[in-house]
Amino acid sequence: MASPSLHFFLHILSTLTISTQYAIGCYTSVFSFGDSLADTGNLLHFSQSGQLPHFGLPPYGETYFHHPTGRCSNGRLITDFIAHYLGLPFIPPYFGFKNGSVAADSGVGVNFAVVGATALDYAFFQQRGIHNPYTKTSLRTQLSWFKNMLPSLSLTSSNCKKLLQSSLVLMGEIGGNDYNHAFLTGRSIEEIQSFVPLVVNVIASTINELIKLGATTLMVPGNLPIGCSAAYLTYFKSSNKEDYDPRSGCLIWLNKFAEYHNDQLQTKLNRIRKLHPRATIIYADYYNAAMRFYHSPRKFGFTGGALTACCGAGGPYNYNSSMECGYPPASACDDPSLYVSWDGLHLTEAAYRWITKGHKGKRKETGKNPTRKTRKYKGDESLQRLSTHHKKKNHSSYVPLSANSGVPVRGSSSPTKADLDSDDLGNFSEHHFNRATFFLNSL
Ligand SMILES: *[C@@H]1O[C@H](CO)[C@@H](O)[C@H](O)[C@H]1NC(C)=O
Ligand SMILES: *[C@@H]1O[C@H](CO)[C@@H](O)[C@H](O)[C@H]1NC(C)=O
Ligand SMILES: *[C@@H]1O[C@H](CO)[C@@H](O)[C@H](O)[C@H]1NC(C)=O
Ligand SMILES: *[C@@H]1O[C@H](CO)[C@@H](O)[C@H](O)[C@H]1NC(C)=O
Repeated sequence: MASPSLHFFLHILSTLTISTQYAIGCYTSVFSFGDSLADTGNLLHFSQSGQLPHFGLPPYGETYFHHPTGRCSNGRLITDFIAHYLGLPFIPPYFGFKNGSVAADSGVGVNFAVVGATALDYAFFQQRGIHNPYTKTSLRTQLSWFKNMLPSLSLTSSNCKKLLQSSLVLMGEIGGNDYNHAFLTGRSIEEIQSFVPLVVNVIASTINELIKLGATTLMVPGNLPIGCSAAYLTYFKSSNKEDYDPRSGCLIWLNKFAEYHNDQLQTKLNRIRKLHPRATIIYADYYNAAMRFYHSPRKFGFTGGALTACCGAGGPYNYNSSMECGYPPASACDDPSLYVSWDGLHLTEAAYRWITKGHKGKRKETGKNPTRKTRKYKGDESLQRLSTHHKKKNHSSYVPLSANSGVPVRGSSSPTKADLDSDDLGNFSEHHFNRATFFLNSL
């Protein structure tokens, strides 16, 4: 039917028509599940200081936090931007200072996402000889942490339902790693395709369980266009020109695979909506949000290119799995905001910010004046350049890494009003939108 992005927007509209009072009320907290697209410090918490994973070393975190925080990017992730748009501070990782108790106490929600986590259980991959170098954590593990945490909130079961009713649940992105580890160790697409219904089923059953516990608003992201990732482009480099999308340079068959997962996921979400008509289930179309900048990188300020990684140690896409970002000789580009890809597998803060903004710009564009949008994008780009530039000159705010560093404390590193204004393209406070409405409309 319509263009993919329009389709996405209509989709959100249709979910809004069934939204509950809480969907347009204020969210008081966020509970987040997922993998390295959402982990804000959980996996790093378990690392020994002598053997830090590559994402626990500089230049990870350099742009916003000025030190590694366990986030797989140069700065903030989509989860951070969503919290920010909701007027909440950073959502603390479950494994923070005191193994979750502080996180739960903060009252703004908890992030259970773990780098490398899969939707399916570790044993599923072990039985098939597929190695996960990062973690044994699955979605089931994260759900069990969530349930273990509930009593520590000392809530009665009706208060627990109330809390969840005013919370936004971010269910993912999860599932990408169920395929990544298999693809990048040479498994056949037929085998990997057979995982898709299983992955989608476990996401669905987790959603159902959370709804039973009282969740009413859930956002469920799809997979990113993996055929545009520097890691995949390097691993599956092809001499056949026909394998590449001429518009973007991405590998067509891998993007088709991501779309296949996303289609199955959306079909399943439709079923869950029928089952739970009072819940608001938002499909977050990361795929098409990201395809916008793979198709027109310059429009979004990505003059460094959409496919080449900012941080790496050379190779056609500046990605080499044996020399990952964080370990020498890999090094970062001067200005990550000009790149989509941060380390070959994960995106830059600038790209995550655009994904979070979703189709807000698009909506404006559906008016009469599309050039206005282009001008605004440039404004944002120069803002980011300015802040990067400023940062490079000021090292005094550097905080050395410790196991707990980067676990944000409420009220300390939470974004300020000025951040909020500069992050936003529009002027939404002026429009008297409450923040939740803004968020739902913009995604
Ligand atoms: C945190 O949890 C881990 C794993 O359950 C445990 O080994 C460790 O002792 C705990 N630390 C604290 C401070 O409770
Ligand atoms: C990655 O680095 C190794 C070691 O320097 C080299 O042999 C290999 O060709 C590189 N791979 C790519 C894709 O550049
Ligand atoms: C550098 O950072 C310090 C501490 O955050 C701050 O006091 C100082 O004003 C900054 N300097 C510049 C040039 O921005
Ligand atoms: C944003 O809001 C301020 C204060 O209401 C107003 O002065 C300014 O013109 C607005 N900017 C835009 C781009 O609408």
